[in-house]
Amino acid sequence: MTIIDSFESDIAKLVKTFNISRSEAISEVKIIFAYANDLPSLNLIMDPTVMSESTKIKKYKKLFKERLQGKSVAYILGRKEFYGLAFSVNDSVLVPRPDTELLVDLAIEKIERYDLKRVLDLGTGSGAIAVSLAVKMPNLNIVATDNSAKALEVAVSNADVLCPQSPITFLRSDWFSKISGEFDLIVSNPPYIALDDSHLNLADLRFEPKQALVSGAEGLDALRLIISQSRNFLAKNGWLLVEHGYEQRGSCLELLGAGGFSQLFCDSDLGGNPRVSGGKI
Ligand SMILES: C[S@@+](CC[C@H](N)C(=O)[O-])C[C@H]1O[C@@H](n2cnc3c(N)ncnc32)[C@H](O)[C@@H]1O
Repeated sequence: MTIIDSFESDIAKLVKTFNISRSEAISEVKIIFAYANDLPSLNLIMDPTVMSESTKIKKYKKLFKERLQGKSVAYILGRKEFYGLAFSVNDSVLVPRPDTELLVDLAIEKIERYDLKRVLDLGTGSGAIAVSLAVKMPNLNIVATDNSAKALEVAVSNADVLCPQSPITFLRSDWFSKISGEFDLIVSNPPYIALDDSHLNLADLRFEPKQALVSGAEGLDALRLIISQSRNFLAKNGWLLVEHGYEQRGSCLELLGAGGFSQLFCDSDLGGNPRVSGGKI
């Protein structure tokens, strides 16, 4: 019997509750155990017997309970890796998703190909997109917005830690309401889930801020507003890139076309789902 075998019932509960694989569940147990006891994960590999110490198990159990109730590992740890960077997160911000790395990749591709300089990130949350762009391309002029003051606090602190040399201008704004000036590129991962979508009852989503997830009856309210108003804030030949739900490809391309954009495209995420659409004004 290995040490991890004594956590078998926890592993089974994670697999059942969150529909994750056994190896993911084992990894979560180890991460939570290490975090609860302020140990580098490597310690558990070098000396697995630490996992049988009763005082340590007690600390682990407290956090494991929160995990089982649906709090994500990222919220428990207060951090999440995105685009190779360690972002701080709390329950005021959406936990940045791997799918959104596609939006950053596409933004970098457009910035390099068309020598774009002025970038606006709408609904920045933890600052995941704006900060990743600032780290990869330090000479950009980036404005990042959110209408949640608490989310902006998290974004500002991530920028201070991760890209102190490339300042980002953070603004509290209801979408474009406080925005002035012209941009070469607008990027946004807005809320795009429909009000009555059953996914909202899934364990992890229940702990995330509703205003980061939900946008009207069809999940399209924010996308509609952003796509229709972007042209007023884009320079000639400027680009708009938006993340959206896997079933919203058609609606987004239609909205982009109606909004006067050309060279429309939609790219799929690693799971093969349509995820980011955009076009040139
Ligand atoms: C899906 S989250 C994206 C967060 C981050 N950009 C990311 O990709 O991880 C959407 C963000 O939009 C913000 N938001 C919602 N309504 C807004 C509004 N009316 N004006 C500005 N931001 C808004 C939310 O607070 C949230 O941070």
